[in-house]
Amino acid sequence: MSAPLSPVPTATEAGMLDGRLALDRCDELATISALPGRIDRFYLTPEHARGNALVAQWMSAAGMTVWQDEVGNQCGRYEGTEPGLPSLLLGSHLDTVPDAGRYDGPLGVMIAIAVVQRLHDRGVRLPFAVDVLGFSDEEGTRFGTALMGSRGAAGTWDPAWWNLVDDNGTDLATAFREFGLDPAEVARAGRRSEDVIAYLEAHIEQGPYLEDAGQPLGVVSSIAGARRFNLAILGEARHAGGTPYARRRDAAIGASHAVLEIEKLARAAGCIATVGRLQAYPGGVNVIPGRVEFSLDLRAEYDADRDLVWEKIHDAILARCARLGLRFVVEENHSAPAVWCADDLRAAVQHGIKSVGGVEPMQMFSRAGHDAMAIAAITGIGMLFIRCEDGISHHASEAVMLDDVAVAIDAFEATVLEVARRYA
Ligand code: HGY
Ligand code: MN
Ligand code: MN
Repeated sequence: MSAPLSPVPTATEAGMLDGRLALDRCDELATISALPGRIDRFYLTPEHARGNALVAQWMSAAGMTVWQDEVGNQCGRYEGTEPGLPSLLLGSHLDTVPDAGRYDGPLGVMIAIAVVQRLHDRGVRLPFAVDVLGFSDEEGTRFGTALMGSRGAAGTWDPAWWNLVDDNGTDLATAFREFGLDPAEVARAGRRSEDVIAYLEAHIEQGPYLEDAGQPLGVVSSIAGARRFNLAILGEARHAGGTPYARRRDAAIGASHAVLEIEKLARAAGCIATVGRLQAYPGGVNVIPGRVEFSLDLRAEYDADRDLVWEKIHDAILARCARLGLRFVVEENHSAPAVWCADDLRAAVQHGIKSVGGVEPMQMFSRAGHDAMAIAAITGIGMLFIRCEDGISHHASEAVMLDDVAVAIDAFEATVLEVARRYA
């Protein structure tokens, strides 16, 4: 990692101990996986249940009452100066991408529990309750749509999701019942705005900007909105040897042009585009692909830039397909607007970082999506970013440094106390 360029926060001794514990807990959670030797923890699976049970133990030990809500989020509540007060929500997610790292999501939950543990150990009660949320589905790995756990908690569950099926053909309602949840009860997971005072999330950065600046922590200004599409190019499957070029309508050629157009146009517009899945059908080595299906994930700091570049991408692929005698089919399966962090919570996170020795913490927009985006529907959000090695995430080699996690816990606690000071 690069050397610090400017004065940086340093962790307390307690921070180092709590940081070690948070990392050990991430390691332990990482052992709960559908496949050995890697991390696969998906929505409404036995691993989801085992992960929740383990996190519930840690929440209980930190003085919280615990429950699993109606969409499978693991919740813990630390009461304020009197029972039943509105709550400050602290959270992140416990589900993972396939073959994941161990910190994307879980580290934020462990940091939240560490902060509550400190309040509990000192017998401190705040003028509000603190609820820690381990969201059940942020990544959307199993059903292809993201933020289901946090949208359940925000009361914005989409009934159209009941039509979703996973790769094994299991529909969402069946998965709910197999997990022990009742689809008819999902509305009960939704929190009311009047019961919530704010939401804070700590998360690894998942990019290289903090590391490049030599800073362990950063303040998030906004979260980029994402649109996701299932795209398909349709041609004609024919014999690979017998079909002359003039007669070929090769969907793989169309898809290849499409991927290159996507990258060129998104780059030029300052947007971020990824084709993460691409599949040719029927998939024979000696058959011209008659259909290629691929995904597109499109992000930008500003929704208008992202939407404009999508129009350009769409028109460019359509024109290319027309020239090649192919058809282009579009299905949009996710759309989330960019979300801004609340000014007062940004200031509280900034204060939290400065109070542990940071000078002027770096402010940055998040290129990755977070549960905070969903919770913004019911309350103001604030986010703290933690440096990760080489900006790597969504990969088994995701790594953070103990010192950074330690100082993140100190800063996150200071942030919570600052929110309490402003609230009182
Ligand atoms: O895809 C994302 O941005 C997030 O990590 N789920
Ligand atoms: Mn992720
Ligand atoms: Mn995440």
